[in-house]
Amino acid sequence: MKTFSEILQDKDFTREELVLLLNSEGGERQQLFQQAQNIKLPAVGNKVYFRGLVEFSNICSKDCLYCGIRKSNEKVIRYEASDDEILEACRFAWINRFGSVVLQSGENSSPAFVQRINLLLRKIKETSNNELGITLSCGEQSPETYRQWHESGAHRYLLRIESSNPDLYRKIHPDNEFHSFDRRLQALKDLKAAGYQVGTGVMIGFPFQTLEDLADDLLFFKRLDVDMVGMGPYIEHEDTPMYQFRNQLKTKQQRFDLALKMVATLRLLMPDINIAAATALQAIDPAGREKALTIGANILMPNLTPCIYRKEYQLYENKPCLDEDAELCRNCLEARIELAGCEIGYGEWGDSKHFSKK
Ligand code: 5AD
Ligand code: FES
Repeated sequence: MKTFSEILQDKDFTREELVLLLNSEGGERQQLFQQAQNIKLPAVGNKVYFRGLVEFSNICSKDCLYCGIRKSNEKVIRYEASDDEILEACRFAWINRFGSVVLQSGENSSPAFVQRINLLLRKIKETSNNELGITLSCGEQSPETYRQWHESGAHRYLLRIESSNPDLYRKIHPDNEFHSFDRRLQALKDLKAAGYQVGTGVMIGFPFQTLEDLADDLLFFKRLDVDMVGMGPYIEHEDTPMYQFRNQLKTKQQRFDLALKMVATLRLLMPDINIAAATALQAIDPAGREKALTIGANILMPNLTPCIYRKEYQLYENKPCLDEDAELCRNCLEARIELAGCEIGYGEWGDSKHFSKK
């Protein structure tokens, strides 16, 4: 039987070993965090790369049982930011030398939407002198749509699997063809085939999820050979069906701690991928994202969504930075990142080293 320290020195891990790492407390957890940092520095360096996040529309055809902007939540006022607003946010990112932006929205597959994104991508490239990297996060789309968007200038795509356990996936989504695990998996494969750097991820600590499930999620990322991962704690939202199970949840602090251990463990398992410090961490602990940066994460997504829309993009309760404008966020970010001992990769795309090596 290997000791905890011996397991930490490994490059490959069994499910049981991953569970052990995710279960670590006290001194062992500190060892895990330290080792994640030891592995991170030679593999991806000390830089943090910014992705300016523009949540440009909350119109969504999906009804995920956990999500505050699900289609059936009638309390949400639906919006779509104008091209000018989106371009303005992207210009801010470019001028401030954020290497990239992430355009995120609810899921919409109408031909008009698909075409709008095509044009927007081209305009963003044009206004930024081809310098801004663009990541899309607009849900499941057809292979043809993914191909077109790639051709128009998007080179990274985020689509979380939410849970790699099909049974658990079914529990947290409506039971119909629009919320199929197989389709989600196929979409991830289509994205790869279309040439994107592909990012996925899961929510951590939602009802019914076990440590074994989370260990399987990590092995899933490895098997799928993804380039980027973003994962954060699940946070309940009162206008969602999953709220009824809130009594079964771990405390927020426990979910937060587990999310940090997931990040550190993933860094050991996949040393050269990009790992985001999820915004949901900050909803639990004001310094949550910076903590993630010190134990394995290397990507941060400052919110550039026009302020007038932010309160309508509440995926979960207590989402931070609701009334802060982008400039303010940037200043406080800089100071905090330096405190976390990291350097900001200004003006660089910060592509996944894992992808470049393929
Ligand atoms: N808590 C945490 N994350 C959530 N997301 C959606 N709802 C919640 C929630 N209640 C995450 C999903 C989705 C991403 C855009 O936001 O993982 O993929
Ligand atoms: Fe699926 Fe928002 S409705 S994540």
